[in-house]
Amino acid sequence: MRRRTLLTAGGALLGTGALTAAGWPLLSDYAREGRPGKVLTSKAPLPAPFRTPLPVPRVLRPTSTSATTDTYDITQQHAELEILPGLRTKAWTYGGTFPGPTIVSRSGRRTVVRHRNELDHPSVVHLHGGHTPAASDGYPTSLILPANGTYDAQRVHQDMNSGPHGASMAHHAMDLAEATRTYTYPFDQRAATLWYHDHRMGYTGAAVWMGLAGFHLVHDDEEQRLPLPQGDRDIPLMIADRSFAADGSFQYPWLDPQLHTPGVTDPYMNGVLGDVILVNGAPWPVHQTQRLRYRLRLLNASNARTYRLQLDPQPPGGNALVQIGSDGGLLDSPRAHDTLDIAPAERYDVVIDFSRYRPGTRVRLLNLHGDGSTAQVMRFDIASGSPRDDTTVPDRLSTVPPLDPTRAAVTRDFHFTGSDAGWTINGTAYQPGRALARPTLGQTEIWRFTTNFHHPVHLHLNHFQVLSRNNREIGPQDHGWKDTVDLRPAEAVEVVTRFTDYAGTYMLHCHNLEHEDMAMMADYTTQ
Ligand code: C2O
Ligand code: CU
Ligand code: CU
Repeated sequence: MRRRTLLTAGGALLGTGALTAAGWPLLSDYAREGRPGKVLTSKAPLPAPFRTPLPVPRVLRPTSTSATTDTYDITQQHAELEILPGLRTKAWTYGGTFPGPTIVSRSGRRTVVRHRNELDHPSVVHLHGGHTPAASDGYPTSLILPANGTYDAQRVHQDMNSGPHGASMAHHAMDLAEATRTYTYPFDQRAATLWYHDHRMGYTGAAVWMGLAGFHLVHDDEEQRLPLPQGDRDIPLMIADRSFAADGSFQYPWLDPQLHTPGVTDPYMNGVLGDVILVNGAPWPVHQTQRLRYRLRLLNASNARTYRLQLDPQPPGGNALVQIGSDGGLLDSPRAHDTLDIAPAERYDVVIDFSRYRPGTRVRLLNLHGDGSTAQVMRFDIASGSPRDDTTVPDRLSTVPPLDPTRAAVTRDFHFTGSDAGWTINGTAYQPGRALARPTLGQTEIWRFTTNFHHPVHLHLNHFQVLSRNNREIGPQDHGWKDTVDLRPAEAVEVVTRFTDYAGTYMLHCHNLEHEDMAMMADYTTQ
Protein backbone atom coordinates (compact mmCIF):
# COMPACT_ATOMS: atom_id res chain seq x y z
CA MET A 1 0.00 0.00 0.00
CA ARG A 2 1.30 3.40 -0.94
CA ARG A 3 1.96 5.48 2.11
CA ARG A 4 0.09 8.76 1.97
CA THR A 5 0.38 11.78 4.12
CA LEU A 6 -1.60 14.94 3.86
CA LEU A 7 -2.20 18.17 5.57
CA THR A 8 -5.61 18.36 7.15
CA ALA A 9 -7.47 21.62 7.43
CA GLY A 10 -6.65 21.51 11.13
CA GLY A 11 -2.99 21.62 10.23
CA ALA A 12 -1.91 18.20 11.49
CA LEU A 13 0.15 15.92 9.32
CA LEU A 14 -1.40 12.48 9.19
CA GLY A 15 0.35 9.24 8.41
CA THR A 16 -1.27 5.90 7.76
CA GLY A 17 -0.76 2.27 8.27
CA ALA A 18 -1.05 1.43 11.96
CA LEU A 19 -3.75 -0.84 13.36
CA THR A 20 -5.20 -0.87 16.86
CA ALA A 21 -5.22 -4.08 18.89
CA ALA A 22 -8.83 -4.63 17.83
CA GLY A 23 -7.79 -4.45 14.20
CA TRP A 24 -9.35 -1.09 13.41
CA PRO A 25 -7.15 1.23 11.44
CA LEU A 26 -5.59 3.65 13.91
CA LEU A 27 -6.01 6.46 11.47
CA SER A 28 -9.02 5.43 9.52
CA ASP A 29 -9.74 6.08 5.87
CA TYR A 30 -11.67 8.98 7.25
CA ALA A 31 -8.54 10.80 8.31
CA ARG A 32 -6.46 9.57 5.40
CA GLU A 33 -8.84 10.97 2.87
CA GLY A 34 -8.82 14.35 4.53
CA ARG A 35 -12.42 14.04 5.58
CA PRO A 36 -13.77 16.98 7.49
CA GLY A 37 -14.57 17.37 11.11
CA LYS A 38 -13.42 16.77 14.62
CA VAL A 39 -14.95 14.36 17.10
CA LEU A 40 -16.58 15.94 20.12
CA THR A 41 -16.18 13.21 22.74
CA SER A 42 -19.22 12.38 24.85
CA LYS A 43 -19.02 12.76 28.62
CA ALA A 44 -21.96 10.44 29.18
CA PRO A 45 -21.10 6.74 29.24
CA LEU A 46 -21.80 5.21 25.85
CA PRO A 47 -24.41 2.46 25.84
CA ALA A 48 -23.68 -1.04 24.55
CA PRO A 49 -24.59 -1.32 20.88
CA PHE A 50 -27.47 -3.39 19.48
CA ARG A 51 -29.70 -3.24 22.58
CA THR A 52 -32.28 -0.69 21.46
CA PRO A 53 -34.90 -1.83 18.96
CA LEU A 54 -34.92 0.29 15.80
CA PRO A 55 -37.61 2.97 16.10
CA VAL A 56 -39.51 3.94 12.97
CA PRO A 57 -40.78 7.53 12.98
CA ARG A 58 -44.55 7.78 13.05
CA VAL A 59 -46.37 8.83 9.89
CA LEU A 60 -48.14 12.15 10.41
CA ARG A 61 -51.89 12.27 9.81
CA PRO A 62 -53.20 15.24 7.88
CA THR A 63 -55.24 17.81 9.81
CA SER A 64 -57.54 18.02 6.81
CA THR A 65 -57.73 16.80 3.24
CA SER A 66 -59.58 18.07 0.19
CA ALA A 67 -59.83 16.97 -3.42
CA THR A 68 -56.44 18.49 -4.20
CA THR A 69 -54.64 19.13 -0.92
CA ASP A 70 -53.51 17.51 2.30
CA THR A 71 -52.82 19.90 5.18
CA TYR A 72 -50.59 19.07 8.12
CA ASP A 73 -49.72 20.85 11.34
CA ILE A 74 -46.39 20.56 13.10
CA THR A 75 -45.43 22.29 16.33
CA GLN A 76 -41.74 22.87 16.82
CA GLN A 77 -41.27 22.27 20.51
CA HIS A 78 -38.84 21.32 23.23
CA ALA A 79 -39.04 17.71 24.33
CA GLU A 80 -37.16 15.48 26.74
CA LEU A 81 -36.21 12.26 25.01
CA GLU A 82 -34.63 9.10 26.32
CA ILE A 83 -31.91 8.47 23.77
CA LEU A 84 -29.25 7.02 26.06
CA PRO A 85 -30.79 4.52 28.49
CA GLY A 86 -31.56 6.15 31.84
CA LEU A 87 -30.67 9.69 30.73
CA ARG A 88 -32.81 12.55 29.47
CA THR A 89 -31.94 14.56 26.38
CA LYS A 90 -33.51 17.96 25.87
CA ALA A 91 -34.16 18.23 22.17
CA TRP A 92 -35.63 20.70 19.73
CA THR A 93 -38.22 18.69 17.90
CA TYR A 94 -40.83 18.66 15.20
CA GLY A 95 -43.89 17.50 17.11
CA GLY A 96 -42.09 16.10 20.15
CA THR A 97 -39.92 13.39 18.55
CA PHE A 98 -36.52 13.00 16.92
CA PRO A 99 -36.67 12.31 14.03
CA GLY A 100 -39.81 14.34 13.49
CA PRO A 101 -42.89 12.63 12.09
CA THR A 102 -42.68 11.31 8.55
CA ILE A 103 -44.94 13.06 6.07
CA VAL A 104 -46.09 10.94 3.15
CA SER A 105 -47.22 12.77 0.03
CA ARG A 106 -48.52 11.76 -3.33
CA SER A 107 -46.93 13.11 -6.49
CA GLY A 108 -49.32 15.62 -8.10
CA ARG A 109 -51.23 16.33 -4.88
CA ARG A 110 -50.53 19.52 -2.99
CA THR A 111 -49.21 19.24 0.56
CA VAL A 112 -49.51 22.19 2.93
CA VAL A 113 -47.54 22.12 6.19
CA ARG A 114 -48.24 24.72 8.87
CA HIS A 115 -45.34 25.03 11.26
CA ARG A 116 -45.71 26.70 14.63
CA ASN A 117 -42.50 27.67 16.45
CA GLU A 118 -42.73 27.12 20.19
CA LEU A 119 -38.95 27.00 20.53
CA ASP A 120 -36.82 29.80 22.00
CA HIS A 121 -35.15 30.78 18.73
CA PRO A 122 -36.27 31.63 15.20
CA SER A 123 -36.52 28.73 12.78
CA VAL A 124 -36.77 28.06 9.04
CA VAL A 125 -38.10 24.88 7.42
CA HIS A 126 -36.56 23.58 4.21
CA LEU A 127 -37.84 20.55 2.32
CA HIS A 128 -34.61 19.03 1.03
CA GLY A 129 -35.12 17.63 -2.47
CA GLY A 130 -38.44 19.37 -2.90
CA HIS A 131 -39.30 21.05 -6.21
CA THR A 132 -40.75 23.97 -4.34
CA PRO A 133 -41.82 27.56 -5.12
CA ALA A 134 -39.32 30.02 -3.64
CA ALA A 135 -41.75 31.40 -1.06
CA SER A 136 -41.99 27.95 0.58
CA ASP A 137 -38.41 26.79 0.04
CA GLY A 138 -37.09 27.90 3.41
CA TYR A 139 -34.81 30.77 2.45
CA PRO A 140 -32.38 31.17 5.38
CA THR A 141 -33.78 34.53 6.47
CA SER A 142 -37.45 33.63 5.96
CA LEU A 143 -37.88 33.06 9.66
CA ILE A 144 -40.63 31.84 11.91
CA LEU A 145 -40.24 33.90 15.06
CA PRO A 146 -40.80 32.09 18.36
CA ALA A 147 -44.38 32.21 19.60
CA ASN A 148 -43.13 33.36 23.01
CA GLY A 149 -42.55 36.85 21.57
CA THR A 150 -38.86 37.11 22.53
CA TYR A 151 -37.70 38.05 19.03
CA ASP A 152 -38.24 41.16 16.97
CA ALA A 153 -36.52 42.32 13.77
CA GLN A 154 -33.75 44.04 15.72
CA ARG A 155 -32.96 40.96 17.81
CA VAL A 156 -32.92 38.85 14.63
CA HIS A 157 -30.43 41.22 13.02
CA GLN A 158 -28.18 41.20 16.07
CA ASP A 159 -28.18 37.41 16.25
CA MET A 160 -27.17 37.05 12.61
CA ASN A 161 -24.61 39.86 12.49
CA SER A 162 -22.71 39.19 15.68
CA GLY A 163 -19.51 37.24 16.11
CA PRO A 164 -16.74 36.30 13.70
CA HIS A 165 -19.08 34.41 11.40
CA GLY A 166 -21.90 36.93 11.38
CA ALA A 167 -23.13 38.00 7.98
CA SER A 168 -23.48 41.38 6.48
CA MET A 169 -27.22 41.90 6.49
CA ALA A 170 -27.02 45.62 5.92
CA HIS A 171 -29.32 45.93 2.91
CA HIS A 172 -31.26 42.74 3.26
CA ALA A 173 -34.98 42.90 3.90
CA MET A 174 -36.00 39.93 5.97
CA ASP A 175 -39.18 37.98 5.72
CA LEU A 176 -40.40 37.41 9.27
CA ALA A 177 -43.47 35.42 10.27
CA GLU A 178 -44.90 35.62 13.77
CA ALA A 179 -45.16 32.19 15.41
CA THR A 180 -46.43 30.24 12.40
CA ARG A 181 -45.68 29.86 8.71
CA THR A 182 -47.46 27.90 6.03
CA TYR A 183 -45.34 26.01 3.51
CA THR A 184 -47.01 24.89 0.27
CA TYR A 185 -45.53 21.99 -1.70
CA PRO A 186 -47.13 21.29 -5.11
CA PHE A 187 -45.23 17.97 -5.46
CA ASP A 188 -45.03 18.20 -9.17
CA GLN A 189 -42.18 15.68 -8.94
CA ARG A 190 -41.58 11.94 -8.99
CA ALA A 191 -41.49 9.55 -6.05
CA ALA A 192 -38.44 10.12 -3.85
CA THR A 193 -37.09 10.11 -0.32
CA LEU A 194 -36.96 13.73 0.84
CA TRP A 195 -36.32 15.18 4.25
CA TYR A 196 -37.13 18.40 6.02
CA HIS A 197 -34.83 20.22 8.37
CA ASP A 198 -34.05 23.61 9.84
CA HIS A 199 -32.24 26.10 7.56
CA ARG A 200 -31.86 29.25 9.65
CA MET A 201 -28.96 31.40 8.58
CA GLY A 202 -25.94 30.87 10.79
CA TYR A 203 -27.67 28.34 13.06
CA THR A 204 -28.56 25.36 10.86
CA GLY A 205 -25.84 23.13 12.32
CA ALA A 206 -26.96 23.77 15.87
CA ALA A 207 -30.67 23.41 15.10
CA VAL A 208 -30.34 20.12 13.22
CA TRP A 209 -27.97 18.75 15.87
CA MET A 210 -30.61 19.60 18.50
CA GLY A 211 -33.14 17.50 16.57
CA LEU A 212 -34.88 19.46 13.82
CA ALA A 213 -35.00 16.85 11.03
CA GLY A 214 -37.58 14.45 9.63
CA PHE A 215 -38.50 12.40 6.56
CA HIS A 216 -40.88 13.48 3.83
CA LEU A 217 -41.61 10.67 1.37
CA VAL A 218 -43.22 11.12 -2.02
CA HIS A 219 -45.00 8.22 -3.71
CA ASP A 220 -46.29 7.94 -7.26
CA ASP A 221 -48.13 5.44 -9.47
CA GLU A 222 -45.02 4.29 -11.32
CA GLU A 223 -43.25 3.31 -8.11
CA GLN A 224 -46.35 1.75 -6.62
CA ARG A 225 -46.73 -0.59 -9.60
CA LEU A 226 -43.27 -2.07 -8.99
CA PRO A 227 -43.06 -5.32 -6.98
CA LEU A 228 -40.73 -3.74 -4.40
CA PRO A 229 -40.99 -4.35 -0.64
CA GLN A 230 -43.66 -2.18 0.97
CA GLY A 231 -45.28 -1.51 4.31
CA ASP A 232 -43.14 -2.53 7.28
CA ARG A 233 -40.48 -3.76 4.86
CA ASP A 234 -39.98 -0.23 3.47
CA ILE A 235 -38.03 1.52 6.24
CA PRO A 236 -36.53 5.01 6.29
CA LEU A 237 -33.23 5.06 8.19
CA MET A 238 -31.97 8.44 9.36
CA ILE A 239 -28.31 8.04 10.26
CA ALA A 240 -26.92 10.85 12.41
CA ASP A 241 -24.00 11.13 14.82
CA ARG A 242 -24.33 13.04 18.06
CA SER A 243 -22.38 13.53 21.24
CA PHE A 244 -23.75 13.75 24.74
CA ALA A 245 -22.91 15.66 27.92
CA ALA A 246 -22.75 13.81 31.25
CA ASP A 247 -26.40 14.61 32.00
CA GLY A 248 -27.52 13.22 28.65
CA SER A 249 -28.04 16.53 26.88
CA PHE A 250 -26.74 17.02 23.36
CA GLN A 251 -23.22 18.52 23.33
CA TYR A 252 -22.40 21.00 20.58
CA PRO A 253 -19.36 23.31 20.49
CA TRP A 254 -21.31 26.55 20.02
CA LEU A 255 -19.43 29.80 20.30
CA ASP A 256 -22.33 31.09 22.35
CA PRO A 257 -24.47 28.55 24.25
CA GLN A 258 -27.23 31.17 24.41
CA LEU A 259 -27.21 31.12 20.60
CA HIS A 260 -27.09 34.82 19.98
CA THR A 261 -23.83 34.46 18.02
CA PRO A 262 -23.55 32.01 15.11
CA GLY A 263 -20.75 29.52 14.71
CA VAL A 264 -18.75 26.93 16.59
CA THR A 265 -15.45 27.15 18.43
CA ASP A 266 -12.33 27.13 16.26
CA PRO A 267 -11.36 23.45 16.53
CA TYR A 268 -14.79 22.45 15.14
CA MET A 269 -14.98 24.90 12.24
CA ASN A 270 -14.32 22.04 9.87
CA GLY A 271 -17.34 20.09 11.07
CA VAL A 272 -18.71 18.60 14.28
CA LEU A 273 -18.57 14.81 14.59
CA GLY A 274 -20.32 12.84 17.32
CA ASP A 275 -19.13 9.56 18.80
CA VAL A 276 -22.62 8.03 19.05
CA ILE A 277 -24.28 6.82 15.88
CA LEU A 278 -28.05 7.18 15.97
CA VAL A 279 -30.42 5.55 13.53
CA ASN A 280 -33.90 7.05 13.70
CA GLY A 281 -32.81 8.60 16.98
CA ALA A 282 -31.64 5.40 18.70
CA PRO A 283 -27.98 4.55 19.41
CA TRP A 284 -26.73 1.58 17.34
CA PRO A 285 -30.18 -0.03 17.19
CA VAL A 286 -31.05 -3.58 16.26
CA HIS A 287 -33.84 -4.66 13.94
CA GLN A 288 -35.39 -8.13 13.74
CA THR A 289 -35.79 -9.04 10.10
CA GLN A 290 -37.44 -11.88 8.26
CA ARG A 291 -35.50 -13.77 5.60
CA LEU A 292 -37.08 -11.51 2.99
CA ARG A 293 -36.27 -8.46 0.90
CA TYR A 294 -36.34 -5.09 2.64
CA ARG A 295 -36.25 -1.64 1.15
CA LEU A 296 -34.13 0.71 3.25
CA ARG A 297 -34.18 4.44 2.56
CA LEU A 298 -30.81 5.57 3.84
CA LEU A 299 -30.39 9.23 4.75
CA ASN A 300 -27.23 10.73 6.18
CA ALA A 301 -28.60 13.50 8.41
CA SER A 302 -25.25 14.07 10.14
CA ASN A 303 -23.83 17.58 10.27
CA ALA A 304 -20.43 16.66 8.86
CA ARG A 305 -19.76 12.92 9.04
CA THR A 306 -19.52 10.82 5.91
CA TYR A 307 -20.00 7.06 6.09
CA ARG A 308 -18.86 4.10 4.05
CA LEU A 309 -21.55 1.53 4.69
CA GLN A 310 -21.02 -2.21 4.37
CA LEU A 311 -22.82 -5.25 5.75
CA ASP A 312 -20.83 -7.63 7.93
CA PRO A 313 -20.81 -10.46 7.14
CA GLN A 314 -21.54 -9.92 3.50
CA PRO A 315 -23.79 -12.55 1.96
CA PRO A 316 -22.10 -15.15 -0.27
CA GLY A 317 -21.28 -13.47 -3.55
CA GLY A 318 -21.41 -9.94 -2.10
CA ASN A 319 -23.32 -7.15 -3.86
CA ALA A 320 -25.65 -6.97 -0.88
CA LEU A 321 -26.67 -3.34 -1.23
CA VAL A 322 -28.88 -3.21 -4.31
CA GLN A 323 -29.38 0.46 -5.01
CA ILE A 324 -32.73 1.24 -6.56
CA GLY A 325 -32.87 4.98 -5.97
CA SER A 326 -30.90 8.12 -5.28
CA ASP A 327 -31.72 11.58 -3.92
CA GLY A 328 -34.23 12.22 -6.69
CA GLY A 329 -36.02 8.88 -6.82
CA LEU A 330 -35.71 5.61 -8.74
CA LEU A 331 -32.72 4.75 -10.92
CA ASP A 332 -33.40 3.43 -14.41
CA SER A 333 -32.13 0.01 -13.32
CA PRO A 334 -30.76 -1.41 -10.06
CA ARG A 335 -27.05 -1.24 -9.24
CA ALA A 336 -25.53 -3.58 -6.70
CA HIS A 337 -22.75 -2.44 -4.36
CA ASP A 338 -20.62 -3.98 -1.62
CA THR A 339 -20.13 -0.58 -0.01
CA LEU A 340 -21.96 2.72 -0.22
CA ASP A 341 -20.39 6.08 0.57
CA ILE A 342 -22.94 8.50 1.94
CA ALA A 343 -22.17 12.16 2.57
CA PRO A 344 -24.31 14.55 4.61
CA ALA A 345 -27.80 14.99 3.09
CA GLU A 346 -27.43 12.22 0.51
CA ARG A 347 -30.05 9.48 0.23
CA TYR A 348 -29.66 5.97 -1.14
CA ASP A 349 -32.63 3.72 -1.58
CA VAL A 350 -31.45 0.10 -1.32
CA VAL A 351 -33.01 -3.34 -1.28
CA ILE A 352 -31.34 -6.00 0.86
CA ASP A 353 -32.36 -9.61 0.46
CA PHE A 354 -31.93 -11.12 3.91
CA SER A 355 -32.85 -14.59 2.59
CA ARG A 356 -29.26 -14.70 1.34
CA TYR A 357 -28.22 -15.24 4.96
CA ARG A 358 -28.66 -18.34 7.09
CA PRO A 359 -31.36 -18.17 9.76
CA GLY A 360 -30.15 -16.54 12.95
CA THR A 361 -27.33 -14.56 11.34
CA ARG A 362 -26.59 -11.25 12.98
CA VAL A 363 -25.63 -8.78 10.31
CA ARG A 364 -23.97 -5.55 11.32
CA LEU A 365 -24.10 -2.42 9.22
CA LEU A 366 -20.55 -1.10 9.44
CA ASN A 367 -19.11 2.33 8.78
CA LEU A 368 -15.69 1.76 7.21
CA HIS A 369 -14.93 5.46 7.60
CA GLY A 370 -15.40 5.27 11.35
CA ASP A 371 -13.14 4.43 14.26
CA GLY A 372 -14.07 2.69 17.48
CA SER A 373 -17.65 3.55 18.42
CA THR A 374 -18.35 5.12 15.03
CA ALA A 375 -17.22 2.09 13.04
CA GLN A 376 -20.65 0.48 13.32
CA VAL A 377 -24.16 1.77 12.70
CA MET A 378 -26.78 -0.86 13.54
CA ARG A 379 -27.53 -4.59 13.37
CA PHE A 380 -30.08 -6.77 11.63
CA ASP A 381 -30.95 -9.99 13.46
CA ILE A 382 -32.31 -12.47 10.99
CA ALA A 383 -35.13 -14.74 12.05
CA SER A 384 -35.41 -18.41 11.24
CA GLY A 385 -37.88 -19.78 8.72
CA SER A 386 -38.21 -19.35 5.00
CA PRO A 387 -41.24 -17.21 4.35
CA ARG A 388 -42.32 -16.81 0.75
CA ASP A 389 -41.22 -13.52 -0.77
CA ASP A 390 -43.45 -12.13 -3.50
CA THR A 391 -41.32 -9.04 -4.00
CA THR A 392 -38.59 -8.68 -6.62
CA VAL A 393 -36.24 -6.00 -7.86
CA PRO A 394 -37.07 -5.65 -11.54
CA ASP A 395 -34.30 -4.99 -14.06
CA ARG A 396 -36.14 -1.91 -15.27
CA LEU A 397 -37.23 0.42 -12.51
CA SER A 398 -37.96 3.71 -14.22
CA THR A 399 -36.74 5.97 -16.97
CA VAL A 400 -34.14 8.60 -16.29
CA PRO A 401 -33.84 10.53 -19.55
CA PRO A 402 -30.27 11.83 -19.72
CA LEU A 403 -29.95 15.61 -19.98
CA ASP A 404 -27.83 16.36 -23.02
CA PRO A 405 -24.79 18.42 -21.97
CA THR A 406 -24.14 19.50 -25.56
CA ARG A 407 -27.44 21.40 -25.38
CA ALA A 408 -26.30 23.39 -22.35
CA ALA A 409 -26.72 27.12 -22.81
CA VAL A 410 -24.22 28.05 -20.09
CA THR A 411 -21.47 26.51 -18.03
CA ARG A 412 -20.97 28.05 -14.62
CA ASP A 413 -18.05 27.54 -12.26
CA PHE A 414 -18.30 27.42 -8.50
CA HIS A 415 -15.18 27.06 -6.44
CA PHE A 416 -15.58 25.89 -2.85
CA THR A 417 -12.66 26.99 -0.67
CA GLY A 418 -11.94 26.73 3.00
CA SER A 419 -9.46 28.74 4.98
CA ASP A 420 -8.94 29.94 8.52
CA ALA A 421 -11.10 32.90 7.64
CA GLY A 422 -14.09 30.72 6.88
CA TRP A 423 -15.68 28.94 3.96
CA THR A 424 -16.46 30.56 0.65
CA ILE A 425 -17.92 29.96 -2.79
CA ASN A 426 -16.10 31.81 -5.58
CA GLY A 427 -14.16 33.68 -2.95
CA THR A 428 -17.13 35.20 -1.20
CA ALA A 429 -18.85 34.39 2.04
CA TYR A 430 -22.61 34.10 1.95
CA GLN A 431 -24.50 37.33 1.81
CA PRO A 432 -28.27 37.10 1.58
CA GLY A 433 -29.70 38.88 -1.42
CA ARG A 434 -26.59 38.62 -3.62
CA ALA A 435 -27.12 36.09 -6.42
CA LEU A 436 -24.05 34.29 -7.80
CA ALA A 437 -26.02 33.09 -10.84
CA ARG A 438 -29.22 33.97 -12.69
CA PRO A 439 -30.31 30.89 -14.63
CA THR A 440 -33.15 31.12 -17.12
CA LEU A 441 -35.99 28.70 -16.43
CA GLY A 442 -36.20 25.83 -18.89
CA GLN A 443 -32.60 26.12 -20.05
CA THR A 444 -30.07 23.31 -19.67
CA GLU A 445 -26.98 24.35 -17.70
CA ILE A 446 -23.73 22.72 -16.70
CA TRP A 447 -22.53 23.60 -13.22
CA ARG A 448 -18.93 22.83 -12.46
CA PHE A 449 -17.89 22.49 -8.84
CA THR A 450 -14.23 22.53 -7.79
CA THR A 451 -12.78 22.33 -4.33
CA ASN A 452 -9.68 22.25 -2.20
CA PHE A 453 -11.32 20.06 0.43
CA HIS A 454 -14.22 17.73 1.14
CA HIS A 455 -17.60 19.33 0.52
CA PRO A 456 -21.04 17.77 -0.07
CA VAL A 457 -22.50 20.29 -2.51
CA HIS A 458 -26.28 20.72 -2.56
CA LEU A 459 -28.58 22.49 -4.96
CA HIS A 460 -32.14 23.52 -4.19
CA LEU A 461 -35.14 23.52 -6.61
CA ASN A 462 -34.12 20.94 -9.21
CA HIS A 463 -32.28 17.66 -9.18
CA PHE A 464 -29.23 17.21 -11.40
CA GLN A 465 -27.30 14.47 -13.14
CA VAL A 466 -23.60 14.01 -12.46
CA LEU A 467 -21.64 14.24 -15.73
CA SER A 468 -18.04 13.72 -14.74
CA ARG A 469 -15.53 13.56 -11.90
CA ASN A 470 -12.16 15.07 -12.70
CA ASN A 471 -13.11 14.88 -16.38
CA ARG A 472 -13.50 11.15 -16.04
CA GLU A 473 -16.46 8.87 -15.83
CA ILE A 474 -18.84 9.22 -12.91
CA GLY A 475 -18.64 6.92 -9.90
CA PRO A 476 -20.77 3.80 -9.39
CA GLN A 477 -23.02 5.72 -6.98
CA ASP A 478 -23.42 8.87 -9.06
CA HIS A 479 -26.22 7.59 -11.29
CA GLY A 480 -29.76 8.91 -11.46
CA TRP A 481 -31.14 12.19 -10.19
CA LYS A 482 -29.20 13.76 -7.33
CA ASP A 483 -29.45 16.95 -5.32
CA THR A 484 -26.25 16.55 -3.29
CA VAL A 485 -22.89 15.45 -4.64
CA ASP A 486 -19.83 14.79 -2.52
CA LEU A 487 -16.68 16.52 -3.71
CA ARG A 488 -13.42 15.05 -2.56
CA PRO A 489 -10.30 17.15 -2.03
CA ALA A 490 -9.03 18.75 -5.24
CA GLU A 491 -11.88 17.25 -7.23
CA ALA A 492 -13.85 18.80 -10.06
CA VAL A 493 -17.40 17.56 -10.55
CA GLU A 494 -19.65 18.58 -13.41
CA VAL A 495 -23.41 18.30 -13.16
CA VAL A 496 -26.11 19.06 -15.68
CA THR A 497 -29.51 20.40 -14.75
CA ARG A 498 -32.48 22.33 -15.98
CA PHE A 499 -34.21 24.72 -13.59
CA THR A 500 -37.95 24.57 -14.09
CA ASP A 501 -41.26 26.10 -13.06
CA TYR A 502 -40.46 28.54 -10.29
CA ALA A 503 -38.82 31.94 -10.55
CA GLY A 504 -37.18 33.18 -7.41
CA THR A 505 -34.16 32.92 -5.17
CA TYR A 506 -32.75 29.54 -4.15
CA MET A 507 -29.65 28.17 -2.50
CA LEU A 508 -26.46 26.46 -3.54
CA HIS A 509 -24.39 25.40 -0.56
CA CYS A 510 -22.13 22.96 1.17
CA HIS A 511 -24.16 20.54 3.29
CA ASN A 512 -21.46 20.15 5.89
CA LEU A 513 -23.61 22.20 8.24
CA GLU A 514 -20.69 23.87 10.00
CA HIS A 515 -19.33 24.94 6.61
CA GLU A 516 -22.80 26.12 5.60
CA ASP A 517 -23.21 28.15 8.79
CA MET A 518 -19.79 29.67 8.28
CA ALA A 519 -20.98 31.07 4.98
CA MET A 520 -20.28 28.39 2.34
CA MET A 521 -23.60 29.18 0.74
CA ALA A 522 -24.80 31.23 -2.21
CA ASP A 523 -28.05 32.55 -3.62
CA TYR A 524 -28.99 31.96 -7.22
CA THR A 525 -32.04 33.49 -8.79
CA THR A 526 -34.09 31.78 -11.48
CA GLN A 527 -35.95 33.94 -13.96
CU1 C2O B 1 -30.69 20.11 3.16
CU2 C2O B 1 -30.26 23.87 1.72
O1 C2O B 1 -30.44 22.01 2.54
CU1 CU C 1 -32.21 21.44 -0.04
CU1 CU D 1 -17.97 22.16 2.94
